[in-house]
Amino acid sequence: MVEESTRVTNPVPTGDDHVDTALRPTSLHSLIGQEQIKQNLEILIAAAKRRSEPLDHVLFYGPPGLGKTTLAHVLANEMNVNIKITAGPAIERTGDLAAILTNLRAGDILFIDEIHRLGKAIEEVLYPAMEDFALDIVIGKGPAARSLRLKLPHFTVIGATTRLALVSSPLRARFGAVYRLDYYDIKSMREIVRRAARLLNVPTEDSGIDEIACRARGTPRVALRLLRRVRDYSQVKGDGVITRVYAMEALQLLAVDPKGLDDVDRRVLSTIIEKFNGGPVGLATIAASISEEPETIMDVVEPYLLQLGFLDRTPQGRVVTPQGYEHLGFAYSRDDKQQPNLF
Ligand SMILES: Nc1ncnc2c1ncn2[C@@H]1O[C@H](COP(=O)(O)OP(=O)(O)O)[C@@H](O)[C@H]1O
Ligand SMILES: [Mg+2]
Repeated sequence: MVEESTRVTNPVPTGDDHVDTALRPTSLHSLIGQEQIKQNLEILIAAAKRRSEPLDHVLFYGPPGLGKTTLAHVLANEMNVNIKITAGPAIERTGDLAAILTNLRAGDILFIDEIHRLGKAIEEVLYPAMEDFALDIVIGKGPAARSLRLKLPHFTVIGATTRLALVSSPLRARFGAVYRLDYYDIKSMREIVRRAARLLNVPTEDSGIDEIACRARGTPRVALRLLRRVRDYSQVKGDGVITRVYAMEALQLLAVDPKGLDDVDRRVLSTIIEKFNGGPVGLATIAASISEEPETIMDVVEPYLLQLGFLDRTPQGRVVTPQGYEHLGFAYSRDDKQQPNLF
């Protein structure tokens, strides 16, 4: 089985992704794609600046690797303010959050990654902090306990999550703006690969860029990783120029198919087809039968397969579509398996 961390198409950051930080766009202008979000953010920024106020609280959601963290940094840059970075699981006690909040300065951005993983007690502290810029602390214990309200500077929370459904509705309601990041279209993907190749000083042919862009599952982080692997291959096998042939060979070697599907994606589809007659079947069952983390399937595999139209979501569970059958080379034979024909 391919280890999660070694999957080249894994959109979750792994050890060798530090290079990405250097490639991270720093302004709205240098950010590729996501036009609608960019336009909305431009207005949000301009309005806050005009009123000389901090930005409204912003929540970004969408699959990993699409630019949520990047956008938080871009907003900090555009507003010219400090950004303090933390993550849901990192804030264990209410005291941790209180310490972070009391150290913020007016206008600062507090970026909370994986915000759906904040504990309930922590969320309770966050509500008044976001709404009234107040921190309620309890002094003493038992009947003598008193609550004290501290004023906090006006700051901005930027939240990021891969699972909007797991963000509690009171927390969600505290965000003035909520944006969904979508997979990038092929044109944006080409631009992202081209830009990264330029910054990394890797010579490329357009057809080589195309091949990487098509197989990067609409995800910038995956594109950057594929680019690095193809660069290695081209340097070892050729003169370092990324051509279509080198890109194809390198990606084939990495078991990334022309649609960007990897071993895990294909196993999900073939398991539903072979073991569950094409579905419907629940995600947990699928995850268990191929021994993958349900999180990986939910955050990474399923959204991409849905986007490609290889998988369908029904109230009874997941179903492989005729296109999914075709892509894997199975004959589509669901009709004879459906409800017995009444006529
Ligand atoms: N719109 C974009 N244009 C160019 N590069 C991008 C864009 N969005 C993301 N990237 C690149 O992809 C990498 C992953 O993005 P990141 O913001 O870390 O994703 P997320 O936080 O959603 O998992 C970044 O390091 C950045 O280099
Ligand atoms: Mg991130």
